[in-house]
Amino acid sequence: MLSSHEFVRVSLEINLFFQRIMKEHLFFVETSLPPVETTAIHEASALKQGFEQLLGHTVYYANGSISENAIRSNEFVTPYTLKAEELNSMLTGASLNTDITRAEYELAADSNPHYQKWPENIMEEINNRSYNLLKEVISFQKRLLSRRLECRIFITLYPELLDHVNHESEYYLEILESLKSRKLPKKTLCDELNFWNHIMEDHAEFIDGMLDPTEDKLKGTARATAEAFEMLVKECMETAQKQMIQNSNRAAEGIRAYKRAATEGLLQCRIKSVIPPLLADHVLREANHYLRLLSSIRQS
Ligand SMILES: [Fe+2]
Ligand SMILES: [Fe+2]
Repeated sequence: MLSSHEFVRVSLEINLFFQRIMKEHLFFVETSLPPVETTAIHEASALKQGFEQLLGHTVYYANGSISENAIRSNEFVTPYTLKAEELNSMLTGASLNTDITRAEYELAADSNPHYQKWPENIMEEINNRSYNLLKEVISFQKRLLSRRLECRIFITLYPELLDHVNHESEYYLEILESLKSRKLPKKTLCDELNFWNHIMEDHAEFIDGMLDPTEDKLKGTARATAEAFEMLVKECMETAQKQMIQNSNRAAEGIRAYKRAATEGLLQCRIKSVIPPLLADHVLREANHYLRLLSSIRQS
């Protein structure tokens, strides 16, 4: 069971990371639907704004109440996030609240580990509201995926990408569910590593598929990266924990460097692709989150 202090800090850090991830998934959906899908576009936009509002609250409470480690991991914002948002919003005409991002760049860490600034019920409230909104988001995304699989809608996102965002949403839901009883989900090492290694494999495959066919070198690296993560999932053994963590860490560092270079290249218009710039930054943050998780597993 988490202490009251840990509950507040963990809830803040989890929500800071995932609320932004959720609203960006909805932004990608909103901007990838054709004009005929007015209802779905509006629904995506309203759900995006719902998470944006919650993120605004979380950022307010997080200031001075989260760990230095979490801030330094760049899983909440990277040096590219604001620029990617401004560019992507300008290119699509869809809104993104960049004031929240600016506030996130100013977030300070918890300077006194024995002082708890906010009572538990504030976090309980944010967790519950996130949980309820997330249920709606998951059902929207699932409906979208099944309509896509039946070819009743067209969307310029791979069905596999819609499935992928649903996996991430369900992973977040499971954490919020556990936090109701002041716990974090109990998982085996391979369950945890396989989830994230599979997510990283998907990212490499999406990047490969969304790069212009002429980007041979970048596509080759993406394919090799996907294979490396696929092998890690196949080989995971509870009996070789240290080795598994080490290998996953090495692969995650590799894909992080690749994603960072891709984000820079896209922002500077040096790479030809159909990758929204904010998507590149989004998957970079997911790698940063995974690397922080790996380092906490290593220390436990
Ligand atoms: Fe994501
Ligand atoms: Fe992802």
